[in-house]
Amino acid sequence: MTSRYRVEYALKTHRRDQFIGRLSHHYLSTSISYQCLEKLNSDYSPPVSETGVFERQGLPGTSQAREEAHRRYSEILRDVEIMIDDHILHQNDAENPFPSKLKLLVPSIGPFFTRLPLEAAFKFQDRKRYISSRRFVSPSFNDVRLILNSAQIMAVTTYGTLQLATFDGDVTLYDDGQSLEPASPVIPRLMDLLRNNVKIGIVTAAGYTTAERYHSRLHGLLDALANSTELTPSQKQNLVVMGGESNYLFEFSPNEPHLLAPVPRSRWLTPEMASWNEQDIEELLDVAEAALGDCIKSLNLPATLMRKDRAVGIIPATPDIRIPRESLEETVLVVQKILELSSAGRSRRVPFCAFNGGRDVFVDIGDKSWGVTVCQRWFGGNSPGGIIKGENTLHVGDQFLSAGANDFRARSVGTTAWIASPAETVELLDELAELMSKKLS
Ligand code: IMP
Ligand code: MG
Repeated sequence: MTSRYRVEYALKTHRRDQFIGRLSHHYLSTSISYQCLEKLNSDYSPPVSETGVFERQGLPGTSQAREEAHRRYSEILRDVEIMIDDHILHQNDAENPFPSKLKLLVPSIGPFFTRLPLEAAFKFQDRKRYISSRRFVSPSFNDVRLILNSAQIMAVTTYGTLQLATFDGDVTLYDDGQSLEPASPVIPRLMDLLRNNVKIGIVTAAGYTTAERYHSRLHGLLDALANSTELTPSQKQNLVVMGGESNYLFEFSPNEPHLLAPVPRSRWLTPEMASWNEQDIEELLDVAEAALGDCIKSLNLPATLMRKDRAVGIIPATPDIRIPRESLEETVLVVQKILELSSAGRSRRVPFCAFNGGRDVFVDIGDKSWGVTVCQRWFGGNSPGGIIKGENTLHVGDQFLSAGANDFRARSVGTTAWIASPAETVELLDELAELMSKKLS
């Protein structure tokens, strides 16, 4: 995620977050003056000293340059913050026919559930990442992504109260294809959220029909929950697992051998979901399976097909093989297009999500916007309308690039944070805990 290749790849047209892309370009255009400074300094080849690279020879002081960069970046972020406030006014005014300035600049921009304190978030991240102290490396896509995350968790804890946190599995809670082991530093942080009465949903694409399989992926957390003497029984009930994006719901159940009990669909399907017809689902999966099979042939993929009850995918033919990233991307785009053009897809009776999982490609019935919605309703009993609102929900995931990414869909129903590794999830949860404790005190 952080290598230069990956960041540049992330900005290719089919894999681009237009908003973050625009923010990083905004940064770049204002850094021209720093590039001039950079050129001046490189002509002098200043020696390295303990006090700083440039200061010794009486060149323009780095602290001055840093302060100027900090001031300029803060100003830019404040401008964007104001632009988002204006967008929110437009969004909440059904009578206003004109698009906001932000909508004109970034046509794909979605709804905002909270305002975003970007200037404050920049100052926080600048203290951590020394963005303004850099003279050769401009603010990057990752800098902007982390600033947005900080702004979002500041907003969700400051302007309201966080009631529901949902987490993706692979890459967010554990490394790709691995499990949540007892020693994972994520576990005590999730337990802390539960102790603070925040509800948790693990909303993963991994689609299994049995509690045993989910226990094997999540056992570190489930066992810790079962053994906890700190959490009350009702706090323990505040954890659910939503598998296959939005297809299988399990609740924590200390008396079950695998600590999870399946919840029958009749108890949690939304009225829209209940209207998805089994025949349409089968038809959609048949088209997807045929399209995936064609990709295996035409791209000569070292892959095998995997058909499930609510999903179909391709996985490496043997565990040691890696299907090239480009082939995975091409497969997602081909399958998505074929599905959109098929009669099953065109009718839009059944939503689906085609995505590149890093080592595999899956087409799932439903998507994480439905998965998170189910969690909002499941825990929303005491909330107005029986649902936890988007502004009180935070979904944390790694897949937010608009094409072929499954966490992206959660953006339409709640606030989100985009992490690139389980270590970043830990940092985010620490940031969140600090903000929540500040608010309490
Ligand atoms: P997530 O990151 O927790 O959403 O999990 C995504 C990964 O789950 C995919 O990359 C697959 O490796 C794996 N997976 C297992 N079963 C399924 C399924 O039925 N649909 C989609 N992904 C699945
Ligand atoms: Mg993931």
